[in-house]
Amino acid sequence: MSRSVGILGLGKYLPPRIVTNADIVAMGIDTSDEWIVDRTGIRERRIVDESMATSDMAVIAAQRAMERAQVEAKEIDLVIVATTSPDYLGFPSTACLVQDRLGLRNVGAFDLSAACSGFVYAMTTGAQFVETGHCKKVLVIGADCLSKWVDWTDRSSCILFGDGAGAAILGEVQPGRGIITSTLNSDGSEASILMIKDGGTRSMFSKTTLDTQANHIYMEGRSVFKVAVNTVVTALVDSLNKAGLTPQDIDLLVPHQANARIIEYVSGKLGLPPTKVFSNIEKYGNTSAASIPIALDEAVSEGRLVPGQIVATIGFGAGFTWATSILRWGV
Ligand code: UT7
Repeated sequence: MSRSVGILGLGKYLPPRIVTNADIVAMGIDTSDEWIVDRTGIRERRIVDESMATSDMAVIAAQRAMERAQVEAKEIDLVIVATTSPDYLGFPSTACLVQDRLGLRNVGAFDLSAACSGFVYAMTTGAQFVETGHCKKVLVIGADCLSKWVDWTDRSSCILFGDGAGAAILGEVQPGRGIITSTLNSDGSEASILMIKDGGTRSMFSKTTLDTQANHIYMEGRSVFKVAVNTVVTALVDSLNKAGLTPQDIDLLVPHQANARIIEYVSGKLGLPPTKVFSNIEKYGNTSAASIPIALDEAVSEGRLVPGQIVATIGFGAGFTWATSILRWGV
């Protein structure tokens, strides 16, 4: 019989510096608190200081998750860091930096690039190692520092993103608990609607890069919005069907926190009342791969997610990628 795999403990890290909508207006961006709240639901976000990078946040979130799960460094077999804002372009991976800082030895470590869907992709990937018996405990982290990738002259994207990290320890749980089903999806034909154009092997960093801000996030917001709402509802319903469940069985929906209007649209389509939908977007904005583990951590701390309940997660983002995972909470 195959093993049941679940989350043994969660941890999060959010930088202490709060940047409100008023602070963004004060930076000279042509926007307003009213526009941002109305169109996105975001009131403030956390931004790292210059000296902090993605691995710094990831390490703290991981330490907290290990503490909650009561798992020691020597028990972890594998580290997966979902990020699209690594400490270094190319290599070394952020996962290797995290592995070293946590004092993990003889473990595999790799980064996974699926943008805002990254955590669900990484959790699904990590779970396979536990299910097959290849690993006993897998550390999965979603961490992004998109404030450093953002074009701070582009008002339609700079208002959206915040920094943060969330971590989960995966391990075997009792039968009937843990991940019930997951789906991973992609559509590279939509790659151009959300991308960082320069700095990779397609278009190397050059002097023009700086002049055109092409080392920063390029986003066609409306297209991203449309693709997101057109894909995630179907994916989640398919996932529920696979598990023999319906939207009514969901006790808590934990969607990627990209825009309050996307969350409202998706929960409306699924017929879920606000009490069954978790959102913290007003405090943190879009923290990319970190948003779902941070939200899960807060849902547990606030008593909104308790053992035995069905929780559905949905991620979506650049690539285009989207992914869902349905779990029966608890160990
Ligand atoms: O994880 C995935 C990451 N990305 C996303 O999730 C993005 C999804 N998309 C969105 O969240 C929304 O499309 C945005 C929040 C980015 C934009 O909201 P929108 O309602 O789709 O606005 P829009 O792009 O259609 O623009 C409407 C107007 C435009 O002005 P005009 O052309 O009508 O005069 C924009 O220039 O709003 C203007 N605008 C702003 N005005 C004030 C765009 N950004 C701002 C701003 N403040 N920050």
